[in-house]
Amino acid sequence: MVFDSNGCDFFDVIYTRKTIRKYTNEIPPLEAIKKIADAGRLAPCATNTQNWEFIAIYDNAIKEQMAQAVNNKYDEIKEHLHNEEDQNKINGYKYYSMFFNKAPVVFAVVEKKRVSTLLSILEKNGMSKEQLSKYDNRSSILSMGAAIENMSLCAHALGLGTCWMCAPLVASDDFRKILGLKEDDRVVTLLTVGYPDSCDSNSQKSKKPLDDVFRLIV
Ligand SMILES: Cc1cc2nc3c(=O)[nH]c(=O)nc-3n(C[C@H](O)[C@H](O)[C@H](O)COP(=O)(O)O)c2cc1C
Repeated sequence: MVFDSNGCDFFDVIYTRKTIRKYTNEIPPLEAIKKIADAGRLAPCATNTQNWEFIAIYDNAIKEQMAQAVNNKYDEIKEHLHNEEDQNKINGYKYYSMFFNKAPVVFAVVEKKRVSTLLSILEKNGMSKEQLSKYDNRSSILSMGAAIENMSLCAHALGLGTCWMCAPLVASDDFRKILGLKEDDRVVTLLTVGYPDSCDSNSQKSKKPLDDVFRLIV
C-alpha cells in the first residue's frame, strides 16, 4: 500500500518510525499540521463517537505556561518524597515530561466525555461502582490511542518527528484551564511535532521479537 501524497510505502513508515525528542527550529507548515490532525480524525473510534479534539499549539507563551504548570506539579510531588533515591528517580522521569515546550508544534489531544451505552444502562439498573468497573472495556481511551498513532505515523510519512507524551499529564487540570476546555474534557496526550534534529541521538528502540508477543491458536 502506498501513501499517494508522498509516495511513502506504508510498511516503511511503520518500520522506520521512532520517537523524536529534539527538533530543528523550522516551523512545520499549517498544511502538514492539518494533515496530521486529519489522520487522527479518520481513526477508528468506539461506536464512532469521535469524542476527541486535536489542538495544535504553535504559541510559545501557551507552551511555556503549560511547562511551568508541569514544573510546579513536580515541585508538589517532590514534597511528598522522603528519600533521595525516589527524588532522583522523579528527576529522571521529569526530564521526559519537560521538553515539549521546545517543540515547534505541540498537539494537545483531548478526550471529550463519552458515556458508555452498556455502563450507563447497568448503572441505571443499580449496579455498584465496583461491578461496573469490570464491564468497563476502556474503549474511549483505546480510540484516543488509535487517533494518536495515526497522527504519529502520518507525521513520520511527512518527514516530521513526534513524541507521544503522557508524563506531562501530571498537570492535566492546569492544561484544561490554560486551553479553555470544559470540565469534563481532558488532555490525554501531548504529541510534539517538528523536523527531527540531527543531534537527536535516539536510535530505533529494540523491540521484542515477534515470537515473544505472538501466539497462534489453531
Ligand atoms: C502512551 C505513551 C506515553 C508516552 N509518554 C512519553 C512521555 O511522557 N515522555 C517521553 O519522552 N516519551 C513518551 N513516550 C514515548 C515512549 O517512550 C517511546 O514510544 C518508547 O520508548 C519506544 O520508542 P519508539 O517510539 O522510538 O519505538 C510515550 C509513548 C506512549 C505510547
